[in-house]
Amino acid sequence: MKGKMGRMMVMVVVMSCMLRAAVTELCNPQDKQALLQIKKEFGNPTTLASWLPTTDCCNRTWQGVLCDTDTKTYRVNDLDLSDLNLPKPQPIPPSIGNLPYLNILSLTRTPNLVGPIPSTLTKLTKLHYLYISHTNVTGNIPDFFSQIKTLVTLDFSYNNLSGKLPPSISSLPNLVGITFDGNRISGPIPDSYGSFSNLFTSMTISRNRLSGKIPATLANLNLSFVDLSRNMLEGDASVFFGAKKNTQKINLAKNSLAFDLGKVGLSKNLEGLDLRNNHIYGTLPQGLTALKFLHRLNVSFNNLCGEIPQGGNLQRFDESSYVHNKCLCGSPLPPCKP
Ligand SMILES: *[C@@H]1O[C@H](CO)[C@@H](O)[C@H](O)[C@H]1NC(C)=O
Ligand SMILES: *[C@@H]1O[C@H](CO)[C@@H](O)[C@H](O)[C@H]1NC(C)=O
Ligand SMILES: *[C@@H]1O[C@H](CO)[C@@H](O)[C@H](O)[C@H]1NC(C)=O
Ligand SMILES: *[C@@H]1O[C@H](CO)[C@@H](O)[C@H](O)[C@H]1NC(C)=O
Ligand SMILES: *[C@@H]1O[C@H](CO)[C@@H](O)[C@H](O)[C@H]1NC(C)=O
Repeated sequence: MKGKMGRMMVMVVVMSCMLRAAVTELCNPQDKQALLQIKKEFGNPTTLASWLPTTDCCNRTWQGVLCDTDTKTYRVNDLDLSDLNLPKPQPIPPSIGNLPYLNILSLTRTPNLVGPIPSTLTKLTKLHYLYISHTNVTGNIPDFFSQIKTLVTLDFSYNNLSGKLPPSISSLPNLVGITFDGNRISGPIPDSYGSFSNLFTSMTISRNRLSGKIPATLANLNLSFVDLSRNMLEGDASVFFGAKKNTQKINLAKNSLAFDLGKVGLSKNLEGLDLRNNHIYGTLPQGLTALKFLHRLNVSFNNLCGEIPQGGNLQRFDESSYVHNKCLCGSPLPPCKP
């Protein structure tokens, strides 16, 4: 009799423990199912060994998974899939689209991540920050990102993306910047990029194959950071300059740009100006001497002429910032001929 009671007590305790575990699991069942499917589609990499059906995906033991504790909905809102040690080349799992509460998605530093960006990502209608960088993802940057109105930043740097820039992302109302450096993107910058909202302050697309002229519409933008270095862009880039803009960094190095630098207006917040290796002509603007924050300047290998304005920070840069122009002269280069 006593033994039977004891066994029953043990059973009751075990069962109530199991019930408690089930009740106190914060992970949403649909999110858990999606995560386990993602793990499977990735080929069960060892990096995701902590993703176990028997544990709570919201208790921070699941590598790279965070749930929304602020609103206490405990939906998965941050997925960081970085440094995945994928045993063989795998595409981005389409099931990522089944995590509808994602706010941040990072897929970075994973050489064996290949194939195109899946269209299921359009289901992530609450996504603010998307990072797909340092992978071998191919194909183009899809236009469908214009459907995710919540997007704030898009970072697709250092992948193997090709094709043209997606024109329609300029309609995204909250987008503050794009970072597309280090891919094989070709063709011109779309005219539509002049109509980004006034929140848009950062455009970096260096180390690609962009060609053609920079659209005049881009004069509408008030960019803090622009980096279009190492492309094949031609013609006028004066649209990025302007005394009334808040520009801090302009890097247009290593293109085929040709415009009169003497005529541009300068943002008083300019910190870095790299125009090396282009066909830029005219003189260096006198206003450069008034820029208090200018700590990086390189105008070498252009067609500039005339005396380097004397004053401000301009003589703190060495000769290599000014060499190989048509007829620049004066300190730190040799004096101008009378
Ligand atoms: C997370 O859940 C697992 C299994 O439910 C448990 O073993 C672990 O102690 C929990 N960790 C935390 C930090 O709550
Ligand atoms: C792309 O794949 C090649 C060959 O596997 C590898 O060497 C390279 O690091 C990968 N690139 C990136 C950015 O992961
Ligand atoms: C990038 O993709 C192209 C095909 O689109 C391929 O030939 C090339 O090897 C890829 N580069 C790397 C580093 O994987
Ligand atoms: C650019 O932005 C800055 C800071 O946000 C603002 O002060 C400035 O008036 C803007 N300039 C133009 C031309 O829109
Ligand atoms: C300026 O650019 C030239 C040409 O690429 C380079 O050789 C030089 O080191 C650069 N100087 C500075 C100060 O960045």
